[in-house]
Amino acid sequence: MAKQKIKYVCSNCSFESPKWLGKCPECDMWNTLTEELVETGPKRQPTFNHPFKAVKLNDITADEEDRIKTGINEFDRVLGGGLMPGSVVLLGGDPGIGKSTLAMQSASRMKETVLYVTGEESLKQIKLRAARLKISSENFHVMAETELGTIISGIHSLSPAVVIIDSIQTMYRSELANSPGTVTQIRECTSLLMEEAKRNLFSVIIVGHVTKEGIIAGPKILEHIVDTVIQFEGETKHSFRILRAQKNRFGSTNEIGVFEMHEDGLTEVKNPSELFLSERGAQSTGSVVTASIEGTRPILLEVQALVTPSNYGNPQRVTTGFDYRRLSILLAVLEKRANARLSATNVFLNMAGGVKIDEPAVDLAVCSAIASSLFDKPADKNSVIIGEVGLGGEVRSVGHIEKRIQEAEKLGFTRIIIPQNNLKGMKATPGIEVRGVSLVTEAMRLILTTS
Ligand SMILES: Nc1ncnc2c1ncn2[C@@H]1O[C@H](COP(=O)(O)OP(=O)(O)OP(=O)(O)O)[C@@H](O)[C@H]1O
Ligand SMILES: [Mg+2]
Repeated sequence: MAKQKIKYVCSNCSFESPKWLGKCPECDMWNTLTEELVETGPKRQPTFNHPFKAVKLNDITADEEDRIKTGINEFDRVLGGGLMPGSVVLLGGDPGIGKSTLAMQSASRMKETVLYVTGEESLKQIKLRAARLKISSENFHVMAETELGTIISGIHSLSPAVVIIDSIQTMYRSELANSPGTVTQIRECTSLLMEEAKRNLFSVIIVGHVTKEGIIAGPKILEHIVDTVIQFEGETKHSFRILRAQKNRFGSTNEIGVFEMHEDGLTEVKNPSELFLSERGAQSTGSVVTASIEGTRPILLEVQALVTPSNYGNPQRVTTGFDYRRLSILLAVLEKRANARLSATNVFLNMAGGVKIDEPAVDLAVCSAIASSLFDKPADKNSVIIGEVGLGGEVRSVGHIEKRIQEAEKLGFTRIIIPQNNLKGMKATPGIEVRGVSLVTEAMRLILTTS
């Protein structure tokens, strides 16, 4: 009997090796090489006798209106206005975060025919979940199957507008000897789905698990194949979830969708600022409110800092939701320009609510929160503070200032501190005092109360 050949493939970068290695030499990740069977048999020869198929660009008709609405505004926004016919979307997230819930809820609200293919649950379990989520739709079709050939036949006979595959790790192609969940199976199944989707113009939502290392399992290569990669994030201890596009061929990657998880499913959060500020405690030091722009929406959030003396040599710097290197820069600016002695202190920084912010406009709020905790002076509770901080301690202007001010005013704040340069040509907003600052020290004097 012929011996089956084995190779080892990295689940992160698809690097192949004839022997097992602890560390992938290509991407330097540990324990990512998994065993795969090598396909043997005659190689297919390419043929070049197909008819010429190119068409004039001007003859192609396509419309933004063609997008399929998922029925969930927050989801549509992240997708760039809905699902593009013929596109493949990868929905990734930690186990139990709510991927199947989101997929089923959106499937039930779509006006078009939807086929939900589950490889993880039985039809009875799906029915029970649907009852819990109060889902009922004439367009919603369910299939419990894992063999892709059978699924494609099912798609051909139903002709759905949207196909949901939950999850790609459970699917397999019978012509391949590898077991489901291996790099080869995941890649081949996705490629076939992609091919079918483009040919028959249906959209596919592929659910994928995220491994412990945060990779959309297994292979990174999947992210290159699909059109859109959407990550469903959230802290398991918090009820809210954030949907974020990592890659989008048909829309922006800045938009986020915010949801809250309840027993009867996910509900959209129309005003995330209210949610993020809802747990703000009484007047305490180290807490400052800022206004960030996520995509096209302003979101108010609380920046929390805790500065403590460091008794053991190396002071600690820990950040949640904020770039670690950016924090180091801001600490150096504070030390040099604002006379803040931080070299022998531990600094803990947190964007409350578990959001991740990489906008420089929150710099000034980060500096103010750190100063508030260091000098033990609470920040004014009714103020919002915005601005990018330069290395000279100067406050630099930021974009979308009007939107940020309006959001602060809407949520009842009475004062907003903004970069001086943003004040130029700005109309006064009734109901909110707008103060311009040009130096980080000036901002601190304004925001830190003496009581
Ligand atoms: N009976 C229930 N009552 C309340 N909440 C529930 C119930 N069952 C599930 N949930 C909630 O739904 C979440 C699971 O959602 P879902 O199954 O959609 O996640 P998933 O991302 O698809 O998970 P997996 O990766 O395991 O497929 C749970 O974490 C829990 O918060
Ligand atoms: Mg699931």
